[in-house]
This record gives sequence, C-alpha cells and structure tokens, in this order.
Amino acid sequence: MEDRIVTTGFREGEDEQEQSLRPKALREYIGQENIKQNLHISIEAALKRHESLDHLLLYGPPGLGKTTLAGIIASEMGQNIRITSGPAIERPGDLASILTNLANGDVLFIDEIHRLSRSVEEVLYPAMEDYALDIMIGKGPTARSIRLDLPHFTLVGATTRAGLLSAPLRDRFGILFRLEMYTPQELSAIVSRSAGILNVRAEEKGILEIARRSRGTPRIANRMLRRVRDFAQIRAEGVITEAVAKQALDMLEVDELGLDKLDRTMLGTMIDKFGGGPVGLETLGAMTGEDATTIEDVYEPYLMQLGFLMRTPRGRVATPAAYEHMGRKPQPNDNQEQMKI
Ligand code: ADE
Repeated sequence: MEDRIVTTGFREGEDEQEQSLRPKALREYIGQENIKQNLHISIEAALKRHESLDHLLLYGPPGLGKTTLAGIIASEMGQNIRITSGPAIERPGDLASILTNLANGDVLFIDEIHRLSRSVEEVLYPAMEDYALDIMIGKGPTARSIRLDLPHFTLVGATTRAGLLSAPLRDRFGILFRLEMYTPQELSAIVSRSAGILNVRAEEKGILEIARRSRGTPRIANRMLRRVRDFAQIRAEGVITEAVAKQALDMLEVDELGLDKLDRTMLGTMIDKFGGGPVGLETLGAMTGEDATTIEDVYEPYLMQLGFLMRTPRGRVATPAAYEHMGRKPQPNDNQEQMKI
C-alpha cells in the first residue's frame, strides 16, 4: 500500500511537504461545512468562558484532515498542540509523562486512538474526566493510590471508525465529528489553493481532473498535484492543463474515477471469479495481498461511496455500477440477488 499513489497514509518525507499545504485557520479550511460551523461555535464559547474546549473525537477515513483540524483547533484557541498516536503510547507511564508535561489549555492530539491498550486507556479516563492522574504506590495490601492534578487540556482523538473505540472511552468525548469525503468542487478548491502555495500554474480543467481522481481525499489530491506538476515540468512547459493532468494520471494507472490497479483487481476478481459476490473480507484480503483492516478502512469507503461495493451480512458484493465501470456483463450464474439492488 505504501507505493500506491492513492494511498491515504503518509509516505516518506511527505509529512513535511504536507505541512506547508495545511490550512492554519478555520476560515482557510475548505469543506466539512457542518463541522466547521459547530466547531466555530464551540471554540468561541470556550474562549468567552476562558475554559478549555471539550474533548473531541474526529472519525472518518484517513487523509480527510483530522490532524489538520486538530492543529486548527489549537491555533484558534491560541494554544499549543502535542501530537502523538495510539501505537506510540506503549505503557501507562508513557501517557502519564505526556500528561504531566502539558500546560493549561494545551491540545493533546492522539491519532489512531483506538489502538491504545486497555491499561493506557485506564489512565486516560480520570485524566479526561477530572484532569487527574491516579498513581499506585507500593504493592499488595499496603498499596495505596494518590491523585495528582493535571493541567486542563483538551484531548482530540482521531480514528477511522468511532465503533472501534471502547464504549467508556467514546463516552468521555463531549464532541464527536464524522469527517465526510470531499466533493470534486471542494477538492478543486483545495488543489487550486495548494497550486498557489506551490507556485504551479494550473488551468481550471486540469485542477478538476486531479480533483475527480483523488477519491474524495485532500491528501491524495495534493499528492497527485505534485506528481502532475513533475510531469508538466518535463513534458509540457510547466502548465497543468486538462490534457496534461489526464496523461500524467493515466501513466500512474489511476482511472477517471480515481481507482488504481488494486481497486480494479479487487472488483475484477469479485466479478470474474466469484460471480459478483458475496465475498468475505478475508478472501478479498487474500486476493489482493492487503490486510483486511486496510481494505475495510481505506479501499472500501470510496468504493461504497461510488456505489460499486456493498457490505452485506454474507460478504461484499459488486454492484451493477461496478460491472459497468469494469466493462463486464452480468453472467447467467452471477449472484442474482445483488442485481436487484
Ligand atoms: N489541505 C488539506 N485539506 C484541506 C482542507 N480541508 N482545506 C484546505 N486545504 C486543505
């Protein structure tokens, strides 16, 4: 997955490049209108009351701007941000040290928060609820616990699906926001803004072509912009026209809807070898060589958004729209049930 142009994870060195494209203020942030409105109100209210913002959970597919939003929240609150992730916090002591080093009002961003271990989560509960850290002293019958006060911080948690969080953790967030995939118009505005920052000349239709193929995801759109910029520089005097964008993206084997080879292998195999499905998630994993979680969190949301794939209790099913896009005709023995969808 690391080699895909359409991967939603960061690739080497990209984190820094992306930093420069990240909006720093809420008014610069494009899309997610509902979240922006709600966030604006919560931030203004917290500022007026001189309080820290409620703990906030952001969930949705990768690459939609969860880290960016966390940074914006900190800067709009006039506070600092500390960024970490679930897998990076291995032991309760790691979290205790992060928490005790925060200052009043700081934003603590924990990416992939669903991957915290149970024992680390348990440190988080009193920290979120009472700004307190419980420390056990001694062992056995003489053991006792002392409570330390923590600074009033705001936890911003990010995860791909809210359902992955344990109920007690989820319940401790005051605000939950689900990030939606971006429309081609919103993505065009993002690519256009990025082109400005990167000093790339791009025509409107070239920008729209990148937007259309970037699977509703700004991180992919910005990555494609850089690749198309390279192509334009070498083959087309530096200007991103519609033709240049099309050629560059065709060369990268990303089709008009943003599907790459892997998406097409997956749909093609489902149709040709499994009569359109239902196919179990594990089988899809074996077919593509991807792990099941990646398929579920990264590939499927976009294929479902396009209406190409459905999750049913018996497995995944390719829809008539997927047949059409893949240029396949339904065969007599194909799963008839799905054709009624
Ligand atoms: N860059 C990445 N995501 C963005 C967004 N939502 N708005 C503006 N620029 C972005």
